[in-house]
Amino acid sequence: MKYHIEKNSVQETLVIPLYGRKVCSERFPHLFKDPEAERLCAMLDYDFAEKGKKMESAAGLFGALEVAQRQYDVGCEVRDYLKAHPRAAVVNLGCGLDDTFRKCDNGTCRGYNIDLPDVIAVRNELLPPRERETNLGFDLNDGRWMDAVDGAEGAVFFATGVFYYFKTEDMKALFRKLAGRFPGAVLAFDACNGRGAKLMTKTWLKEAGITDVDAYFSLEDASALRGWSEDFSSVSAKSYMRGYRDIYGEVGLFHKLMIRFCDSLVKMVIVRIEFRGRTPA
Ligand SMILES: C[S@@+](CC[C@H](N)C(=O)[O-])C[C@H]1O[C@@H](n2cnc3c(N)ncnc32)[C@H](O)[C@@H]1O
Repeated sequence: MKYHIEKNSVQETLVIPLYGRKVCSERFPHLFKDPEAERLCAMLDYDFAEKGKKMESAAGLFGALEVAQRQYDVGCEVRDYLKAHPRAAVVNLGCGLDDTFRKCDNGTCRGYNIDLPDVIAVRNELLPPRERETNLGFDLNDGRWMDAVDGAEGAVFFATGVFYYFKTEDMKALFRKLAGRFPGAVLAFDACNGRGAKLMTKTWLKEAGITDVDAYFSLEDASALRGWSEDFSSVSAKSYMRGYRDIYGEVGLFHKLMIRFCDSLVKMVIVRIEFRGRTPA
């Protein structure tokens, strides 16, 4: 049985990173072996022909490298947090069909995968929750999902390919709420500058019906986020393609040039925000 994904919907956007991880698993197995992405793509009722053709081009393949690499990057953040907080909540914001929790599971942490209810309905069929894992169908802007997350032993939140669909004011409200509610937690997500967001309007964001990109989140310099909340104790950013594992030496000339372009002109980064812990009474 195959599961249908609606065309021209925000939910459709979850197919692109999943397919990108499958393509990287086939083309760069020494970097991104991901049998789960291969298995999931085979289970979807979705016409991959057009996307497949696009990803065969050098530029398309770079897009695939980006999505696979950012999953690797946030996985590093999650594992790092779990070293000091082995029973923490691992919270995937806008999870789509991403299985980072399972890839990072240390046997004691708890995973929460949050996305819009119709995406979670598909996820429940394809990736039904396992032990210590919960799938939650919510709009992230509806703060009630936070009631379901037990952050008593720490929490690490992450989002990949999600905040480009958020208005800056909504993101700010979400981050402030998280920082107030989960002291000592960490939040990691990918971001790019306005130029990068404009480039995306031609592809991903257009497919999600977003044209007025200026109202949506982009980031020239991560330090701009420091003023968003007094509950942030640190904000830092690392290169997407080189900050956690440098793949520059593993790719051909065109992709090397793209990495340089993305680092210097598009400012593609993984942002890490640490929330201030509670001062003991
Ligand atoms: C490009 S996909 C990325 C999926 C996944 N993070 C990955 O990297 O494979 C964007 C995801 O964000 C979800 N999303 C967008 N806006 C959302 C919102 N307001 N609340 C919850 N999920 C949202 C979409 O449904 C979609 O699954």
